[in-house]
Amino acid sequence: MRSPALGTILAVLIGTSAYAQEAGDPAAGEKAFAPCKACHNFQKNGVGPDLKGVVGRKAGTYEGYSYSAALKNSGLTWDEANLKEWLKNPKAKVPGNKMIFQGITDDKKLNDVVAYLKTQS
Ligand code: HEC
Repeated sequence: MRSPALGTILAVLIGTSAYAQEAGDPAAGEKAFAPCKACHNFQKNGVGPDLKGVVGRKAGTYEGYSYSAALKNSGLTWDEANLKEWLKNPKAKVPGNKMIFQGITDDKKLNDVVAYLKTQS
């Protein structure tokens, strides 16, 4: 009776990964963005750079913001995958950057925040 059990485990695993791939919810993302507001908005540079249009932007290029050399030289473009990795663990994604944020560990929240950022273009 091993295969039915295996089938159940596989179904659960596949179900979970399909969920993680699901498009995020911008309204929930706006709420999850609350801690970011201490440093970011979509109008001007503050403690952190202006995030208007950040999805698809080259990292470290918003005019008038004084970025760390680490982020400026990262060579990254903020596509969804890079944004999620950055927001999950900024220190690991770009060592030496100056965004002091512990990261979002919840995959749904990550998807939601990125969906919200996409609406701010
Ligand atoms: C304590 C302040 C702070 C918080 C909180 C914070 N950030 Fe930042 N963020 C920064 C700083 C400072 C930078 C610039 C980092 C550098 O130059 O190394 C930055 C950079 C970024 C960038 C790269 C922008 C670019 O132009 O390359 C993104 C995207 C970003 N933050 C998103 C977020 C999001 C989304 C959140 C919330 C989940 C968040 N940040 C929370 C301070 C913060």
